This record gives sequence, C-alpha cells and structure tokens, in this order.
Amino acid sequence: LNILAVSSEVYPLAKTGGLGDAVSGLAAALSSGAARVTVLLPAYQGVSSHVDRMRRVATLTDLPGGDAELWAAHCPELDLPVLLLKNDALYARSGLYLKPDGTEYEDNAVRFAALSQAAARICQGILGLQRPHVVHAHDWHAALVPIYLRQRRVEDVKSVLTLHNIAFQGVFPMSLAPRLGIEEAYCTSDGLEHWGQMNFLKGGIRYADLITVVSGNYAREILTPRFGCGLEHMLTQRRADLISIPNGIDTVLWNPRADQFLDGEGFDAECLENKQRYKKALQEFFGLAPVAGTTLMAMGSRLTTQKMADVAMAAIPRALDAHPDLQVCVMGQGEKGLEQGLLQVAERYPGRCGVHVGFDEPQAHLLHAGADVLLHGSRFEPFGLTPLYAMRYGSVPIGSRVGGMADTIVDPGGGVSTAAMRAANGILFDGEQPDDMLGAIHRAMALRRTPDVWRAIQVNGMKTDYSWEKSAPAYLSAYQALRPDVMLGRI
Ligand code: ADP
Ligand code: GLC
Repeated sequence: LNILAVSSEVYPLAKTGGLGDAVSGLAAALSSGAARVTVLLPAYQGVSSHVDRMRRVATLTDLPGGDAELWAAHCPELDLPVLLLKNDALYARSGLYLKPDGTEYEDNAVRFAALSQAAARICQGILGLQRPHVVHAHDWHAALVPIYLRQRRVEDVKSVLTLHNIAFQGVFPMSLAPRLGIEEAYCTSDGLEHWGQMNFLKGGIRYADLITVVSGNYAREILTPRFGCGLEHMLTQRRADLISIPNGIDTVLWNPRADQFLDGEGFDAECLENKQRYKKALQEFFGLAPVAGTTLMAMGSRLTTQKMADVAMAAIPRALDAHPDLQVCVMGQGEKGLEQGLLQVAERYPGRCGVHVGFDEPQAHLLHAGADVLLHGSRFEPFGLTPLYAMRYGSVPIGSRVGGMADTIVDPGGGVSTAAMRAANGILFDGEQPDDMLGAIHRAMALRRTPDVWRAIQVNGMKTDYSWEKSAPAYLSAYQALRPDVMLGRI
C-alpha cells in the first residue's frame, strides 16, 4: 500500500510544533509495517542537510508561484523516502510560516497551494515515481489536495485529511482563487468559501474522502461552537466520514533510558535515582538555586494563548509565593508580549524562576528529564504530545481537561484510594483562570508531600504505552477501507 503523506512539517526536517512529530512518527511506524510511506514537503532552507540520495525527478510547471522542481531523496534519520518541492522563491526562507518580526509571509496561500497542487500531480502520475494509492494530507497547509484531485479527475487515489489543529485554517481573500488554480465550482459556501473568504481547511473537510482527528475527545469537541472555530457545521455535515485516531509518541526518540540528547545512563520506571542528575543540570541551565528537595515545575511549549501562557504568567508568581519549595522553569517561544511577560516574572524571582525564550530539541529532552512537574495548560488541545513526553520521563503533567489531554491524563480525583492510584498519571483542571491553574498546582504540591503516592503517579505515566505501534494500525485499516482493491503488503 503506497501512501503519500503531505505536510508542511516533518521532524527533523522542519518543525514548529507537534505536527512535525506526529507526521514523522506515524510515517515511520507505518513503514515498518505493511505500508510504504513517502513524505512530501517544501524544500525549506536547511531541509537538504537532513537528506541524502537526492535526485531530481521532474519540473512541475505552472504551479501557483511558478515552476517548481520535485526532488526525491531519503531521510536517514527517519529511514523514509521523501519528496521535496523546490521553489526557492517560495520556500528558501528563515521561517516556515512567519517572518522574523513574527508576522505571516504574505504569500502563504500561494506557498501551500503549490504544495497541494504538487501532491495532486504526483497522484495523477509522474514519470519515475510510483503513484500512491492514498494521499494523506495534514492540516490546512495540505488541505487543498482533495480539491485539486477532483479538478484533475483523479478518482482512484483516495484522500485522507488529518486535523491536528483546526484553529489554523488558511484563510485568504477569495480573489486569489484564479491565481491558485481553483475552479469557481469549489468556491461556494458549500465548498471552501467561508464568510466571503477562501478557507483551505473548510475546502479540505468538504472534499476529503476521509477526515481523521487526533483524539476522540477533540473529535467530539470540534462539532460544538466552542471548539469548532466556525467549522462545526461543515464538520457535522461530514460526520459520517470523520473518525478519531489518537497520536502516538516516538518511544525510541523519547526514551529516558537511552536518550541521544542526554548525557549519562538515563533512568527508567524501576530506577529513578538518576533523574536527580538531570534535575541538577536543568536547575543549572535556568540559573535556579541548586537546592535538593525542591519541586521543579517546567513549562515547555509554544508561548501562545492556546497554551495558556497568559494564564501561567499570572499563576506562576502566586504559586511561587505560596510554595517556598517550588521552582519554575519555562522554555518556549511565541507571542512577543507573552515572552516578555514571562521574562519579567523570572526577573522578580531570581534563583527560583528561569525563563528561556527559544527552543531546541536537546533542551526539550532535558526539560522533561529534569522536571518534577510539567505545567501544560491549554484552552484547546487537539492531542497534546508534550504531556506524554513528560510522563515518559517521570515528570507529572498538570493539564487542562480539554481535547486529547482529557483522554490521556488520568487524575487521581478527590481521594488517593488504591484504585485511583493504580491509574493516575497526572492532574487535570477545568477553566481558564489563573485560580483554576493555581488550584491544580496546589494539588500537585499536596500530592508531592506523600512520596509513595507521587511515585505511583510517576511510574504509571512512565509505564503507559503511548507508542505509535498502538495507533498506526488504525490508520492502516482506514487506508485499506478506502482502497479495498489494494492487497496489504503489496508495494
Ligand atoms: P503543539 O503541536 O500544539 O505545539 P504538542 O504538545 O502536541 O503541541 O507538541 C509540541 C511539540 O513542539 C513538542 O515536540 C515540543 O517539544 C515542541 N515545541 C514546543 N515549543 C516549541 C517551540 N517554541 N518551537 C518549536 N518546537 C516547540
Ligand atoms: C497540533 C496540536 C497538538 C497535537 C499536534 C500533533 O499542533 O496543537 O495538540 O498534539 O498537532 O497532532
């Protein structure tokens, strides 16, 4: 079964968040089974350093934004075939979506329409490339694939659209349609038109053969006005073709016993002693007092209102005031005002609160390895990979009861009965106010006072299986249902 995955992010080639992790994790897991997955992404600046065996396959003429070259390559880190869409005028830039000043590139519609259109041409057939049986588009950047497939009358290749985050929809002026090569028939309110504008994601939802959502709870939430971001009607209309398949995590990359980014011999659920060493390293990195016996609470995420960075900004000082044995470290980047606000909190609590604006993978691994608690508030969270990374490393997540976190985090509830402790792996809170978050922090601090209870929560999280090996088969069945004519394993 040949699958073409189309995504703007694929870790480690290009990533700004969990999308990149999810796409590469799924592709790798599927490829070790019965599917052959090729990933198509733009040849952004720096991408070629992650691939080898590059060969030019074709020139795709008349794509939005001009002619582009299609390069086939191999990514050794993923051991996967990749296709790179090369048009330097569109993609060879420092950011994936944003200019250095934090605003969006003006031509994002053209950049990602070209990606989708390239995918449709590959589905139609390109000399020297195998045609996929199924094309799997991820998020709005690839959401025009089903429309371009229809326009090109490609009927045998079936399309899957996965919704990783419907807050991002790709909304642009309708007047761009001719430039993007989108026929008028698709520009109606029953198609990609939405409040007078062109909405890539709405178009994808309307025309994809199958829509998948990254957690069961988010799949239910997005049918409601609160979480549907205006797309709840279209999603409800397509309900019969909408399924949820939870993400997994890459358990080789995220393995506290053998982590390529961490020095030393690591740790596991049976022996957590070494975790202290990483805690010390984390304290050092953030300039926190090297005191043992503290609770080190970390936050590592995009600093946005989705991630409640604004709420954390208000809750953290109050938590530090209430708990003299608490330390806090924050790593991430995002909205400038939120970055500044958090930096100011750190200034007010020298030695107790450290904030690092920026992000890189080795530090993210140290963050989870060294922290006692992960603070991960979210106003909405389609899946939430970060709390699962934390759990793997014995860092207990405090998360909002929304989206995927409500499915993956198990709260011990009011009591700490044996039954509750057998399943509990974190703490959940409702609401979006600093008091709501603070209440959860108080609960974590209270649980910390009973070491056996805390240890049970940590170990439950470390032992739960969130690997892709559990979720990849569900995608495989979905592909198969779309293409019953293709024998599994036939490549
Ligand atoms: P989301 O995709 O909404 O950001 P997830 O928790 O599912 O949330 O995934 C976040 C991923 O992005 C993790 O791999 C995390 O380590 C990484 N990450 C967090 N903050 C940043 C950042 N500022 N820049 C790049 N990657 C980040
Ligand atoms: C999105 C979501 C996040 C999810 C990730 C991978 O970025 O915000 O919750 O885990 O995609 O599916």
